[in-house]
Amino acid sequence: MKKYVTDAPVLENAAISDGIYRMVLHAEKIALASQPGQFVMVMKPDDSGAFLRRPFGIADADAGAGTVTIIYRLVGKGTRAFAKMKQGELLSVEGPIGHGFTVGAGKTLLVGGGLGIAPLLFLAKSLPEKPVFLIGGRSEKEVFWKELLAPLAEKIYVTTDDGSFGTKGFTTTLLPDVLEKEQPARVVTCGPTVMMKGIAAIVRAAGLPCEVSLEKRMACGIGVCLGCTFLATSGTRKKVCVDGPVFDAKEVFA
Ligand code: FES
Repeated sequence: MKKYVTDAPVLENAAISDGIYRMVLHAEKIALASQPGQFVMVMKPDDSGAFLRRPFGIADADAGAGTVTIIYRLVGKGTRAFAKMKQGELLSVEGPIGHGFTVGAGKTLLVGGGLGIAPLLFLAKSLPEKPVFLIGGRSEKEVFWKELLAPLAEKIYVTTDDGSFGTKGFTTTLLPDVLEKEQPARVVTCGPTVMMKGIAAIVRAAGLPCEVSLEKRMACGIGVCLGCTFLATSGTRKKVCVDGPVFDAKEVFA
């Protein structure tokens, strides 16, 4: 799989919610090569405090426009520096990296929580049939995702922990009903591990295939540092950066 490193100009960079930013970068070759579920490693060329690249799932790649979009949360020094970047400034971007989602025919149910919804946007755009979404968040503050998903979705189900929007509870609370109503051919999930584990168990019991996208701290992104490994159900150690980040749920959760 071809991978590129490029200094990419920032085209757009703005907050889309409290502490959540969307950045569009001009990176033609990466945009052309990207598949849903893959990620990019990003670094400010003049980053004086932290030199490591940071991984971001690709929220959109537009081959025609030559753009790659990431959605990020302000969590520390690095992302605060990203948030200050203006149009035209350069970021060093490496990618696309990793093994992405299966883009197959038939109805797909996409289950996302928090920032895990970002890579599902790119997948939704790439599927032959508009998918159904089930998304979960803490409160109505995270409902901005619904607006981003609206043009890409056949239907969107929302849960919030506090019941301030949609159904009160977690995505796992609503999933059995959604499976019953929507009868999807398969399920794809991305979000907190505890959520994905619960989703995978319900989907497995329903006899449907399920893919999960894992998030781990990544230092190298090329299979060298071993910082992203986990013990797969087969008993072998897998690297999230090169073997994933997308896996069959059965490889991850027993
Ligand atoms: Fe270094 Fe995966 S991030 S091996």
